Amino acid sequence: MYLGLDLGTSSLKALLIDDTQRILGSASAPLTVERPHHGWSEHDPDSWIAATRKALAELANTHASELAKMRGIGLSGHMHGATTIDKDGKVIRPCILWNDTRSYEEAAELDADPQFRRLTGNIVFPGFTAPKLKWMAADEPEAFSRVAKVLLPKDYLRLWLSGDAISEMSDSAGTSWLDVGKRAWDDGLLSATGLERRQMPALVEGTERAGALRAEVASELGLPAGIPIAGGAGDNAASACGMGTVGDGHAFASLGTSGVLFAANNRYLPNPDSAVHAFCHALPGTWHQMGVILSATDSLNWLSRITSTKPSALTAELGDTLLAPGPEVFLPYLSGERTPHNDAAIRGGFAGLGHESDRPALTRAVLGAVCFAFRDSLAALAQTGTVLTRVTAIGGGSKSDYWLEALATVLDLPVDIPEGGDFGAAFGAARLGLIAAENADPLAICTAPKTETTIHPNRDLTGAFDEAYHTYRALYPALKGAMS
Ligand code: XUL
Repeated sequence: MYLGLDLGTSSLKALLIDDTQRILGSASAPLTVERPHHGWSEHDPDSWIAATRKALAELANTHASELAKMRGIGLSGHMHGATTIDKDGKVIRPCILWNDTRSYEEAAELDADPQFRRLTGNIVFPGFTAPKLKWMAADEPEAFSRVAKVLLPKDYLRLWLSGDAISEMSDSAGTSWLDVGKRAWDDGLLSATGLERRQMPALVEGTERAGALRAEVASELGLPAGIPIAGGAGDNAASACGMGTVGDGHAFASLGTSGVLFAANNRYLPNPDSAVHAFCHALPGTWHQMGVILSATDSLNWLSRITSTKPSALTAELGDTLLAPGPEVFLPYLSGERTPHNDAAIRGGFAGLGHESDRPALTRAVLGAVCFAFRDSLAALAQTGTVLTRVTAIGGGSKSDYWLEALATVLDLPVDIPEGGDFGAAFGAARLGLIAAENADPLAICTAPKTETTIHPNRDLTGAFDEAYHTYRALYPALKGAMS
């Protein structure tokens, strides 16, 4: 038995697999994002521990005997969060999340220092970890002076589970402190942020052992003491392990809170100017690229909130037949945008509204906008030489066939839907737990699920979506000019 723990933005999920990788059960517990100021987005790290306890207690109701036979744990989590810990292991302030844009000035300052793009292979985005610490140094100097360790969110869970401060390459690549080609912390990047290597966790590969379960926590959770915890991965690389997206030519589109167009690479392929992220993968000696959209299903969640209608009800009322885009155009920049704009200050908008614009028309515009944002990321990947010929869809939004047909049409690519199952980040984390515990061959474990169906582009609508995409593209500079 192996356990995957995925610390998501809106919930923590625990998933149990056996040694044939069959999913035996899963449980999740919700998490709350606090937004105390414009552009801020935070989690209370204690809530991650409470959610882990809750999810494990739920699993124990039905799977206590399997939990007692656990052999390994793998961790996954939302990336880039700054969890600051004092010398006694106590959390100093709420974790500043991946979609928090408060440190955009600090990000621009670090990004202007050429060593950052040269060594990390990425723009220093405001959502990355280094600018958050620079913000803390300026705005919360007393708190900053007490920072003994900076941990990524899933690595704080590891600290609680094992007592060890350890991270792995895929998540650490998103801090702006890792030399991504060398897979090592860089002292120059750390000192440019006022930090030292001793404030960083030790580094392993995602497939390696990184801590063992403490007896105290083990007895509380109903797990055996001392079982190994794998390095694990940032949530996108963990999903890729779950989906078998681990070698050249494999790609997925994740319609989650954030939208991610992810391509696995056997080589390190940085191209920061395209605003594509180039990170280490969870498997040793591999890397990946991705375009990141900050509000994907989060855009639909926003519409859901203001119309008091569940996201599933919003998509259900569109019916099954994909329609050409209407005059309404949405810009999904509710938290700013990463790929391709690297613009933390931009905010979203609706254009083309008329008296006839009803709720379904707004939903169609929101779904369409997220597809257009994916097309921007596809174009950014193409600029780096990575050309995709098909993608597999994952994430909550992929439950809507309407959305997937729109995506296939806008990207002009076949979109594969994996056969029933749960191949997300928690499953990928459980696979990493298995690999670390049994010293198994990562490629033999991280295989791709069978494709259940493929959704093809609707070529009758290609022209209409192309036209709407060009309107969408023209609106960003207009909105930026008008609002700044
Ligand atoms: C990736 C990113 C998001 C988070 C959310 O760079 O910021 O996908 O990992 O889970």
